[in-house]
Amino acid sequence: MTVLQTATITFTLNGSPATVRADHPHLLAALREELDVTSPKDGCSPSGQCGCCTVLLDGKAQVACQTPLTKIEGRSVTTLEGLDEAERRRYAQAFAAAGGLQCGFCIPGIVMRAKAQVDRKGAALAREDMARHLGAHLCRCTGYVKILDAIETVASGREVVLTPRGGIGSRGAKYEAEALALGDRGYVDDLRLPGLLHAVLRLTDHARADVVHIDTAPALAAPGAVAVFTAADIPGDLRVGIIHKDWPVLVPEGGRTSYAGDVLAIVVGETRQAARDAAALVEVTYEPQQPLTDPDVAMTSEEVAVWGTDGNVLSRSAYARGDVDAALETSAHVVHEIFQTQRVEHAFLEPESSLAVPRPDGGLHVYSGGQGIWDDRDQIAAVLGIDRDRVSVELVSNGGAFGGKEDMSNQAQTALAAWLLQRPVKCTLSREESFLVHPKRHPLRLEYWAGCDGQGRLTAVRARMVGDSGAYASVGMKVLERAAGHATGPYRVPSVDVESVAVRTNNPICGAFRGFGANQAQFAMEGVMDRLAEKVGVSGWEMRKRNVVHPGDVWGPGQEMDDGCAGAERCLDALAPRYEEARRAGKAVGLGLALKNSGLGNGFKEVTKAVVRFRRDGLVEVRHGWTEMGQGIHTVALQVAVEELGLDPDRVVVLVDTSRELGQGQTTGSRGTLMGAGAVRNACQAAKQGGCQYDVDYLGEHRVDWTHHMGEVDKPIIHSAFGYAAQLVIADPVSGAIERVVAAHDVGRAVNPTLCEGQVEGSVHMGLGYALTEEFPSDLLGVPTKTTLRSLGILRAKDVPPIEVILVEVPQPRSPYGIKGVGEIGLVPTAGAVAAALHEADGQWRTTLPMRPPRTASAAAGDD
Ligand code: FES
Ligand code: FES
Repeated sequence: MTVLQTATITFTLNGSPATVRADHPHLLAALREELDVTSPKDGCSPSGQCGCCTVLLDGKAQVACQTPLTKIEGRSVTTLEGLDEAERRRYAQAFAAAGGLQCGFCIPGIVMRAKAQVDRKGAALAREDMARHLGAHLCRCTGYVKILDAIETVASGREVVLTPRGGIGSRGAKYEAEALALGDRGYVDDLRLPGLLHAVLRLTDHARADVVHIDTAPALAAPGAVAVFTAADIPGDLRVGIIHKDWPVLVPEGGRTSYAGDVLAIVVGETRQAARDAAALVEVTYEPQQPLTDPDVAMTSEEVAVWGTDGNVLSRSAYARGDVDAALETSAHVVHEIFQTQRVEHAFLEPESSLAVPRPDGGLHVYSGGQGIWDDRDQIAAVLGIDRDRVSVELVSNGGAFGGKEDMSNQAQTALAAWLLQRPVKCTLSREESFLVHPKRHPLRLEYWAGCDGQGRLTAVRARMVGDSGAYASVGMKVLERAAGHATGPYRVPSVDVESVAVRTNNPICGAFRGFGANQAQFAMEGVMDRLAEKVGVSGWEMRKRNVVHPGDVWGPGQEMDDGCAGAERCLDALAPRYEEARRAGKAVGLGLALKNSGLGNGFKEVTKAVVRFRRDGLVEVRHGWTEMGQGIHTVALQVAVEELGLDPDRVVVLVDTSRELGQGQTTGSRGTLMGAGAVRNACQAAKQGGCQYDVDYLGEHRVDWTHHMGEVDKPIIHSAFGYAAQLVIADPVSGAIERVVAAHDVGRAVNPTLCEGQVEGSVHMGLGYALTEEFPSDLLGVPTKTTLRSLGILRAKDVPPIEVILVEVPQPRSPYGIKGVGEIGLVPTAGAVAAALHEADGQWRTTLPMRPPRTASAAAGDD
């Protein structure tokens, strides 16, 4: 098939004449697809809501995905590639020095917006004005604090001072920060190959329907269409899944869809647009079924919601200690409350993208931005019906994930198309497809009964939780298990009785998301603590101080806590002066205290490896198998190598190596820093013992194979490490507007304090959105009702209050350098703290998320 040649458009690109076909849907497509200009990123085209594609049009910042080509004829377009070297370096170094980027996907667009403002206003550019201009942008990682710091530096004309990279504790710039800031470090969708074909997924029109017939002929006849594949073309397994293999790669004729993100066909075209146009022509005949969307109904229904499964209860997790009934009976104060949390979308800025390339040896190489390339490799091989050594999966650092890229999204379908065509095929989801396909944060209903004595010491907690897990299992059972495990927060509770149930429905799938069930549970537990504090007549701070877990105490499901848990009280104590000061000033104040396990625990044998290799060109390779998704695992690897080997940081090259079995499992649960640092440290020690010879792979391994399943032994070690955090929300006592957040986080050891602060600031931003405005609802037919980034309620830069971060370092026993991890715990305490502050303002106890004060809701809806 050939692509019709149409009229052309001529304009000036970065100072030189450029001509493109006129049939691109917008300027962004012309830049990326025809001219291979890839610094403008595609986070949401054509909706113009993320700002990632911002360019200058005649010197004015403009989102390229909302710019029709007819508007650029004869005009001047500037992208980051077109800035002179000195200016590029100034922006790149300012962002690197400030720690103003994590995954980096949003940054090139933000730099172009900043340039437009700095060019106009120079040193007069006010921070608040810049924050307002960033209303056209989203950053899901940073919380904007360090982005604004970086822009301020450039605007002021001050010299950028880059802290030199160093060992553990160094504030040196993030690895590859400058290339990321300039958009030069490619993501999967930036990869280009000769003969590349493009694939688009044809999703179902109904969350639950029998698929009677799929007619691919009209799509195949479309201009530029190359092939259309359905389940009938799968040579191997139909279903995939990290834990349960219950998720069809393609739903076949005769099968039944189970959620609105099910895939019916994969359509391959010469261009992305041709594939997209053709996909719309796949005709499907359905017999729609009534979806089961109420988890309470699904839990007791005989009718099975999800095709190919045998019941709607995905999992039950339960444990008990002591006599809760007797303890509640004799408690001086008792609280009974029902809390409801909402479904939330990750909104990582880079939509999922996969590229599959046939190998010369008859195998298949797949580029993935996923969080679990080993699982991806095994599952792709199973779908293709070939040995797993014929599939290699290469990790490409992604543009944010937060748990949402643990499951395969389009990797298997892309691999299938490339395998059957024996041509390279890329598939990049649109923002709407991304929303539909990947799992979300679980909505949970949590019913709590809790008691304390007259002095406020907790006596008992009973909790019952029901989570809507959506259609396929993903890791839903583990999320609900973790919610149950964290039900009592970081407190000593003598009697506990907890049960959680994950229910299958035909709603969007829920799975891993930063915090992994601990957020929901501790929103409820913190609410209970504040209600009890009021009954006792003590402050929220005092109530927590009287109950916080100490080393040697038995926690939640029965774990005897080690010395690392002293971090909880240290975080609380760190906030005491700010708490008192805010109260004295008459502010409405709320406090949240939380813990979150790092690593998998629960008896899972965790093993990870790393390789250090000295090259004859003077460089030293550090190879590991973890996904860099903005959290800074490469930087951790570099700093550990510098610490152990005393190297010049410029000699260290960090590589993700998927050709050797260096990793195991997913990059999840703050595992990367904790496990990766241990493996790199041990590889460095092996190198030192071996004399640091050239061209030798020095292998290091880190093992955590000493945790227990719940109930396996008398005093189980369920988790090897926990992170701890206390957050203080200070609000206006009349309006309830949040004025400031102070976040004290015990990270065990801050490998890079700047990166740790960035993780916390980004988490607080995410946590405020979770508390106040964010949600991803679906209707009675199981179909999401908010389908754009703007409608999700994510806070924009101008709505984020000042965030003060206090890093606490209480080392974790048996962990490399005492590291505890920082990513997971980030927003666990936030919603509870917000609820308490709002209660102080208006006397209303909140039980439902999002809490949505009108002021913030309208701001978050993008009215800027
Ligand atoms: S891709 Fe253009 S604004 Fe998001
Ligand atoms: S750094 Fe902004 S979205 Fe990741």
